[in-house]
This record gives sequence, structure tokens and C-alpha cells, in this order.
Amino acid sequence: MIKAGIIGGSGYTGGELIRLLINHSQVEIDFVFSTTRVGKKLSSAHPDLLGQTELEFTGKVNLKVEVVFLCLGHGNSSKFLAENSFSNTTKIIDLSNDFRLKADSNFEEKQFIYGLPELFKNSISDAQYIANPGCFATAIELALLPLAKKGLLHNDIHVNAVTGSTGAGIKPSHTTHFSWRNNNVSWYKPFTHQHLSEINESLTAFDNEIGRLNFLPNRGNFPRGILATAYTEFQGSIKEAKALYQKYYENAVFTHISHEPIHLKQVVNTNNCHIHLHKHENLLLVTSAIDNLLKGASGQAVQNMNLIFRLNEGEGLQLKAGVF
Ligand SMILES: NC(=O)c1ccc[n+]([C@@H]2O[C@H](COP(=O)([O-])OP(=O)(O)OC[C@H]3O[C@@H](n4cnc5c(N)ncnc54)[C@H](OP(=O)(O)O)[C@@H]3O)[C@@H](O)[C@H]2O)c1
Repeated sequence: MIKAGIIGGSGYTGGELIRLLINHSQVEIDFVFSTTRVGKKLSSAHPDLLGQTELEFTGKVNLKVEVVFLCLGHGNSSKFLAENSFSNTTKIIDLSNDFRLKADSNFEEKQFIYGLPELFKNSISDAQYIANPGCFATAIELALLPLAKKGLLHNDIHVNAVTGSTGAGIKPSHTTHFSWRNNNVSWYKPFTHQHLSEINESLTAFDNEIGRLNFLPNRGNFPRGILATAYTEFQGSIKEAKALYQKYYENAVFTHISHEPIHLKQVVNTNNCHIHLHKHENLLLVTSAIDNLLKGASGQAVQNMNLIFRLNEGEGLQLKAGVF
């Protein structure tokens, strides 16, 4: 069994990792580190785990663990690694944005690889350190990568995406307060969201010249999931667009092209990304949907771990959608 450690275990992505790893056939959770809940049962923070595990949060880190997941806010992962030197065989999977950009990907002796399997599967399999992508970034990159690969993103790209409240982390805020969020919708960080840099880096992996990416993020009235719509000029037919996407994702375990229009609930609670294509005059509309805490975070982190340890890519990730 692979021994795994989780840092930031009482947060949202930490909780999802615990849920995934206790059901993973090849992994045993070695420790779950917390700054606030030492000695308390994991179920004290995640009540759904009652009866599933007797593990307690710890304040001690096993630096020789085989794989560690950092589920910390931005800036805290690099700080944590500076204060805790893991063995030189420990695989590190970081969920923050500390190491995602090429300019940030070197940390001390470590070289982090951007963990989007649909883009860098081979490098991920050979990697020791993974920078797990952002949730909006995952949904948007998966929607646009097949076009980028064919050099078909030279015109402006318009993206609108709506996220659930868990995307903002467990700490309550004005905009995650039930009274404000419920029956409400609003945009934030128009054209300036922090994921734009990693999205642009991924889309230019194939073709340096891409159009301007105009991204409007929205807060939705639901706890989990991201539905993104992206459109740009496309001269080919809808049949050609579908063929291009089917080809790009022919070996993808979790990203699938739908012939029917998609909705959020068909992917919530799964590690899937569903994509739909629609042509209107000279515009191609691409819709993608993911669960922000799974394909957008902890599920993708487990997918990356599976690749690194040469396990079945989908191990522990065959999940059932919420649907109703
Ligand atoms: N939420 C999402 O949908 C999502 C998606 C993709 C990526 N991410 C990224 O993943 C990371 C974790 O996100 P999250 O939503 O799980 O956040 P979260 O719910 O706020 O959890 C973070 C946890 O980190 C621990 N922590 C807080 N301050 C710390 C510090 N100074 N040093 C060490 N530990 C500290 C806390 O756990 P303890 O009290 O147990 O120590 C806290 O619960 C973030 O960088 C986020 O941007 C999140």
C-alpha cells in the first residue's frame, strides 16, 4: 500500500482527498496534518466520515511518507515546504497556485510539473512534484486545448464560467454567507482572475499566438461545480469541430464529448469533465462542466498520483454523479 499524508486536512480539498483515499485500493492514509484540530477525529471536521475511519488529525508530519498532498491556501505551500523537508523520494502534489506557472515551478531542488493529464500525461508519469491546476483553469483549458493544438485560437476568446461556493474554501466570507449567496448570482474579478496566467501558459504550449482571453467568473447559488462557456471564431463545420475534440480526447479517461447539451449535475460528485460543442454562424461555442473539488482539485490530484505510481489512471475515482 502507498502511504499518503495530507496537509490542511480540515479544509474542503483536504476533506475530499480523505474521502477518495480511504476508498482507494492501493493507498493507506499515513497521517492528516492540521494546525487547528490535533488529536480530534477526522469526523469532527468531516461528519460524513463517521464510521468510515477512526483516524485523528495530527500535528506531526511524517517526512518519509511516499506521497504528500498539500491542501493549503496560496503562499502557504511554499512556506510549509521551506519548514518541512520531505525525504528525497517523497512525491509532492500541491493544490495551491504556488508552483503552477513556469516562472514559479522551481522550488529549491524541486521541479514542479503542471498536473493536467490531458495536456502533460507523460511528464506527470515521470514527475516527483506536481502543481495541480486551478479549478476554473481545468474547466477552461479542457474546453480550449483541442483548438489550441490545431492553432485555431488566434481570434479573441470569450469565457463565462460560474462556480459553486466551495471554490472559495471553508473559511466563511461575505459572499459565501447563505443569506447573501442563496437565490443570488454575481460576477467577480472580471478580466483579471488569477487563473488567467496558467490558462494562457497551457494554451500556448502548442501555439505561441493565441487571441485575447476575456474571462468573466461568476458566483453561483450552489455548493459545488463549474459550468464554463467559451466561444471564438471557427471557420470549420460542427462535424469538423467534433472530430477534432474526439481525436484530442480519444485516450482521456475522464474528459468526454457529449452530443447533447450538458448541465452541471451530470458531473457533480465525479472526476469527469463533460464538453459540448455548438456552432452558430462563424462562432464555436464550447461548454465544459466539472466538479471543482474533484476534477478541479482533489480528484485530479489522485489521478496525478495514480499516473506517478503507474496505477490504473482511474483507480479510486469511479464515482457516482449527484444527478438529482
Ligand atoms: N476549493 C476548491 O474548489 C479548490 C479547487 C482547486 C484548487 N484549490 C486550491 O487548493 C488549496 C486548498 O483549498 P481549500 O478550498 O481546501 O481551502 P480551505 O478549505 O480553506 O482549507 C485550507 C486548510 O489549510 C489549513 N491552513 C490554513 N492556514 C494554514 C497555514 N497558515 N498553515 C498551514 N495550514 C493552514 C487549514 O486546515 P487546518 O485547520 O486543518 O490546518 C484549512 O482548513 C487552495 O490553494 C485553493 O486555491 C481549491
